[in-house]
Amino acid sequence: MHHFQCILQAQRCLGWGPLASVSWLLLRTCRAHSSFSSTTCPGPEGQQEDGVREDFSSRLATGPTFQHFLRSASVPQEKLASSDVVDPPPYLTVDELLGRQRKVYLETYGCQMNVNDTEIAWSILQKSGYLRTSNLQEADVILLVTCSIREKAEQTIWNRLHQLKALKTKRLRSRVPLKIGILGCMAERLKEEILNREKMVDILAGPDAYRDLPRLLTVAESGQQAANVLLSLDETYADVMPVQTSPSATSAFVSIMRGCDNMCSYCIVPFTRGRERSRPVASILEEVRKLSEQGLKEVTLLGQNVNSYRDNSEVQFNNAVSTNLSRGFSTNYKTKQGGLRFAHLLDQVSRIDPEMRIRFTSPHPKDFPDEVLQLIHERDNICKQIHLPAQSGSSRVLEAMRRGYSREAYVELIHHVRESIPGVSLSSDFIAGFCGETEDDHLQTVSLLREVQYNMGFLFAYSMRQLSKRSATELCGRNDGNLKVIFPDVEMEDATDSGLRVRAQPGDYVLVKITSASSQTLRGHVLCRTTLKDCSAHCSPE
Ligand code: 5AD
Ligand code: SF4
Repeated sequence: MHHFQCILQAQRCLGWGPLASVSWLLLRTCRAHSSFSSTTCPGPEGQQEDGVREDFSSRLATGPTFQHFLRSASVPQEKLASSDVVDPPPYLTVDELLGRQRKVYLETYGCQMNVNDTEIAWSILQKSGYLRTSNLQEADVILLVTCSIREKAEQTIWNRLHQLKALKTKRLRSRVPLKIGILGCMAERLKEEILNREKMVDILAGPDAYRDLPRLLTVAESGQQAANVLLSLDETYADVMPVQTSPSATSAFVSIMRGCDNMCSYCIVPFTRGRERSRPVASILEEVRKLSEQGLKEVTLLGQNVNSYRDNSEVQFNNAVSTNLSRGFSTNYKTKQGGLRFAHLLDQVSRIDPEMRIRFTSPHPKDFPDEVLQLIHERDNICKQIHLPAQSGSSRVLEAMRRGYSREAYVELIHHVRESIPGVSLSSDFIAGFCGETEDDHLQTVSLLREVQYNMGFLFAYSMRQLSKRSATELCGRNDGNLKVIFPDVEMEDATDSGLRVRAQPGDYVLVKITSASSQTLRGHVLCRTTLKDCSAHCSPE
């Protein structure tokens, strides 16, 4: 697969591009965390009374004033952190942000994180005056909390959207227009592609944008599409107490951290959920205490890598002690230091209610400290169950996956875990068919399954997650104005050597005719390979 970075010389004439210098670039370095955020795009429908829309539009056009920024800046941190306080943007009033008893139907796909996120999103909407319904037919707002981990997960959502489209079209004119939102990982990964492909989608909210849901829905009410896919370095929704979906539930998920820094080469999560950050211990303990008071019998502490947990919010707890990695394990990021670690959190959580079972998922095998194993062994209420995703039994494939350990190091850890916690239940995830995996690699995975004798295994066929809308048959360069230009990788004339037909190579300049544009990228077809000098002679802007 070829991935190029090009430097194109733009001409400001007649939509004609440019010359390109093509250079090699690894795809992974192209992954952008967020390409747009908090934007509103003109939508397909104008479904509001004109008076309301005119007022809203004129306020939107006027935009925030200097006073608005001063006012926001002067709000004390504590106040900003509280989800009860609504600080409306300058083009909306507090009243307009209210749900006015609109009924929300939430549907969850993907992992336990998404189950928890659904409760967070609902908690925020409930405070804003929305009602919840479990009946799709009576919903005014339908929100899908989506997953991107494999192609199939996304296909399920596209199919669901087709069904919902019919529901939206059939909606009686006498009722409030139905609004549809995509929340979570798929909103983050595909961004405006969803809005362009499915015009009936009204709002997009990435995993770090749920506080913005009331505003997004209000904007959508005026007939516009609204999106916020901004990723955060510190959002943990620490102050948002999730609302239990079922009042008769006996178990609950408690999110202790968000995001992931591991960058395993097959995984989309660092790009959909952003950088790793931990929720402060105090707020986790408060939530678990409340759940215990409500009579819940089991909590599962959730995070992408729970044993990387590190609460740095209390400065006095910072120390210079760095992470002890399991023997034979390494990380893809710089060693982190200080803070309250997972062993401390687990200890505190397990002391809250001796009759409440504690589970956690998922730990990464790279840092499994003895303190955690010891705690699991000695506390009656911490379940003797560990999910230790191996992903492959072949050291060669593990290296290609950037897992930071070999098969031998993983097996050694398994022995250590079994010695430390006799009778422990072990489960794991495996991926089959990763890029470059051979029959022999696969047999090594099968042999690891036999060797470890897990209690449970989750086996997945590898699903390539495309991170760029550019296909393998396209090249990319930059024009003189530094805009990205994408064009098909085809043979072209060489303007400097008539009769010669060439394919663009890294470092070449090419002349491209621009045929379309999106907010950040130009697309076109390539005309010829050229030089800076020749191009300025033939394509001068005048
Ligand atoms: N294809 C297939 N499986 C994947 N997983 C993560 N990314 C992919 C992918 N691109 C699996 C891993 C992970 C589990 C949650 O999903 O096994 O542990
Ligand atoms: Fe959960 Fe990963 Fe799916 Fe996001 S992509 S919902 S983190 S499984």
